[in-house]
Amino acid sequence: MTDSNRLRIAIQKSGRLSKESQKLLKGCGVKFNVNEQRLIAHADNMPIDLLRVRDDDIPGLVMDGVVDLGFIGENVLEEEQIERETLGKPAAYNKLRQLDFGGCRLSLAVPKEFSYQDASSLEGLRIATSYPNLLRRYMQQKGITYSDCMLKGSVEVAPRAGLADGICDLVSTGATLEANGLYETDVIYRSKACLIQSAEQQTPAKQALIDKLLSRMNGVISARE
Ligand code: PRP
Ligand code: ZN
Ligand code: MG
Repeated sequence: MTDSNRLRIAIQKSGRLSKESQKLLKGCGVKFNVNEQRLIAHADNMPIDLLRVRDDDIPGLVMDGVVDLGFIGENVLEEEQIERETLGKPAAYNKLRQLDFGGCRLSLAVPKEFSYQDASSLEGLRIATSYPNLLRRYMQQKGITYSDCMLKGSVEVAPRAGLADGICDLVSTGATLEANGLYETDVIYRSKACLIQSAEQQTPAKQALIDKLLSRMNGVISARE
């Protein structure tokens, strides 16, 4: 059970932000053990519950006030915000701080044999992505029309599978693009992990705990700069 007197923090269950988010919380003095089978981990020494969920779900959980805080990539956050603004759904949150991990970029990439001049080379073509809103914003700015191919995963195999002409996906080391015969053409969005808070009014006790965590976090992060 979750208890509304406890601070609820959403973290990625598994993936690139998962270990670093846990390490940072531990560095702030929060004691907990994660059981891989469990959605919730209760802290032993503070009134904090960690909710381990898919990263794409975290912005919505914070914006709906289901959780109080969330560790999330700015790319996923921005994507959800554009989505909600388009649909007229509540999209409010407070960004408490940017973090020092989870660096990546959202980029366009095409097959090695594609002769690419600029984004207009993609006019009328199909682009595979998990980030349709960020892609649309970029292409609208450039005045380019294209077709979507929405994939939640395996975006990098879409061109070879004949599903799309190019992709718009996250790049970190570039190894995934390289392994799939693709090269990066345009950087659409640069991202790092960040900590966000629900826009809802907190009880004084919970807000004091958030303030304490944030001040410790500032210390931990500046100590490793
Ligand atoms: C991203 C992206 C690529 C990979 C790129 O996936 O979709 O698969 O990382 O990283 P590289 O440039 O270092 O090879 P992510 O790990 O975020 O997982 P997801 O696709 O399941 O969200
Ligand atoms: Zn419980
Ligand atoms: Mg991936």
